[in-house]
Amino acid sequence: MAKDFSTMEDSNRSSNPSIHDMSDPARRTLLRGGLGLSLGAVLAPVAGCASPSAGSGGGPALGFASVAPSAADAVVVPPGYTATPLAPWGEPVGIAGAMPAFRFDAGNSAAEQAVQMGMHHDGLEYYALDGSRRGLLAVNQEYTDEGLLHPDGQSTWNLDKVRKSQAAHGISVIEIEQRRTGWDVVRPSRYARRITALTPLAIGGPAAGHTMMKTAADPAGLTVLGTIANCASGRTPWGTYLSGEENWANYFTAADVPTAHERRWGIHRATWYRWPEFDERFDTVRHPNEPNRFGWIVEVDPMDPASTPVKRTALGRAAHEGAWVAVTKDGRAVVYSGEDAVFEYIYKFVSRDRIAPAGQGKTAAQANATLLDHGTLYVARFDADGSGRWLPLVHASVSGAGPLSAANGFADPGEVVIKARQASDLLGATKMDRPEWLAIDPNTGWVYCTLTNNSARGTGGRPGVDAANPRANNTMGQIIRWQEQGDFSGETFQWNHLLLAGDRANTRAEARGNIRGDVFAGPDTIAFDGRGVLWIGTDHSASGEGEFARMGNNALLACNPVSGEVRRFLVGPVRCEITGCTWTPDGRTMFLNVQHPGSGAPRNGSQPRRFSNWPDFNPAGRPRSSTVVVRRTDGGVIGA
Ligand code: FEO
Ligand code: CA
Ligand code: CA
Repeated sequence: MAKDFSTMEDSNRSSNPSIHDMSDPARRTLLRGGLGLSLGAVLAPVAGCASPSAGSGGGPALGFASVAPSAADAVVVPPGYTATPLAPWGEPVGIAGAMPAFRFDAGNSAAEQAVQMGMHHDGLEYYALDGSRRGLLAVNQEYTDEGLLHPDGQSTWNLDKVRKSQAAHGISVIEIEQRRTGWDVVRPSRYARRITALTPLAIGGPAAGHTMMKTAADPAGLTVLGTIANCASGRTPWGTYLSGEENWANYFTAADVPTAHERRWGIHRATWYRWPEFDERFDTVRHPNEPNRFGWIVEVDPMDPASTPVKRTALGRAAHEGAWVAVTKDGRAVVYSGEDAVFEYIYKFVSRDRIAPAGQGKTAAQANATLLDHGTLYVARFDADGSGRWLPLVHASVSGAGPLSAANGFADPGEVVIKARQASDLLGATKMDRPEWLAIDPNTGWVYCTLTNNSARGTGGRPGVDAANPRANNTMGQIIRWQEQGDFSGETFQWNHLLLAGDRANTRAEARGNIRGDVFAGPDTIAFDGRGVLWIGTDHSASGEGEFARMGNNALLACNPVSGEVRRFLVGPVRCEITGCTWTPDGRTMFLNVQHPGSGAPRNGSQPRRFSNWPDFNPAGRPRSSTVVVRRTDGGVIGA
């Protein structure tokens, strides 16, 4: 989600030490000595930590011509490629008997929106039904822009508008197939599904039924209405979809003086949305436990439209970007996640049990229906010598020791996961520059994480630079990577940076970065394709001014993770961000999402086409987030 830096959630006032404070004086001086001097030190493989190597070669070749920065209201791809919109906001998902057409004046009702694609597509994953010809797309619908969602935006406000906004959130599942004319949505489809802010979801794991999860509407603390702020996506080896609840705090209003718990989670009287005016569930004065029911990783079985999605509380509560799964040598699941807020943390969960095979009448998804409810949650500490440690978020009653005890405000294991931020503060985790997506290199097992930016770093009394987050006023972001010691379940790791983003033509040293190839800022989406290319979707300042002026609109770049070479592959329309990146198994079709084209139009709905009218260019329409299908005209593998 694009965010105005001035309103970025910023609630970590914990006093846990930064690694800067723990680093040796010589290195600290080096890092303070100016970025130009320190870059070599930051990027050089640290002792005992080789850079990833994909065997004897130099990594996967990037076989396309670089695309120049573009400010056009269009999707630009290299020669020999096509980019075609598919299933934009408002198109019917394909539920039999309920397929209302999109109204370009935004006149669809809340009930119609509840069976149409939601707004602002973010993460997405492809699930094969017939190999690379037919499958499902699960799509996150992250947030709404009320100035585009209703004909008159927020110039009037009522319950119907709240309900339409809620119906435009959540997750969509659509069936798609490749026809002679290209990829299209299958309508109707028995798989077609919408999950919205009003859909009942189950709660699994240590917070299920917890006192802090109980509300007037749900005295058992086992069922939540809805999922919101669904940001990045991941897929599990057992065929399910993982969706992160990210900026959920913005939906709630609190008392003028919020509780300490609310403050730590960024909940205040002010709210970005106006749901509480007509839906009291989002008013924490009336319903203080309702926010505890958001901020989880949601697991969905896209193959079973009757299945109930589950909030997996064992993975911890956060402003979750998303979640990504690796598998240990003995077959357990390791789930990496982070939270996209300044000075927050990176987590991993190691399942107690092994992944079960399908069989005995159960699909793999059904056989692993509770796998993510039992295991150990850790938070990351990045040390200045290039090593790192996973700190277990285990309640003292289980570990027999440690600070996560009743005396420190954690009554039981459920309270540890609900208050994962406070627990991580106590353990001394490293405060990061907004962790967004993670990806695991299929060739090397290195884990990559985008740290999109943190302009508050080192300013106004906020935490200073450290080795993992080495730039003050970090407007550009970086990509960090690590290799676990022994196995994905290891409790120590070695880390370095793949790159620091930026534009080498900038006058401010901290904004130059060290990219080998095409410049970019705001790394957000990352995903590996089958050849081991790391694809990077960007989300820099939508207006594209100042230090971003030479970068054009947000883009998708390809990176050879062995050589570090970066090449711009696709540029999106005006004021969008590029997110979600997935492929058919043959690698010959790429799906990605263009999110919030034309963002920043007035909230009163008066000028929906002020900045963009992509992809329809309907003179009476409005810009729409959309999935985009990328193909090669010769049918070859994307990027090869
Ligand atoms: Fe929804 Fe952090 O992007
Ligand atoms: Ca972002
Ligand atoms: Ca993102």
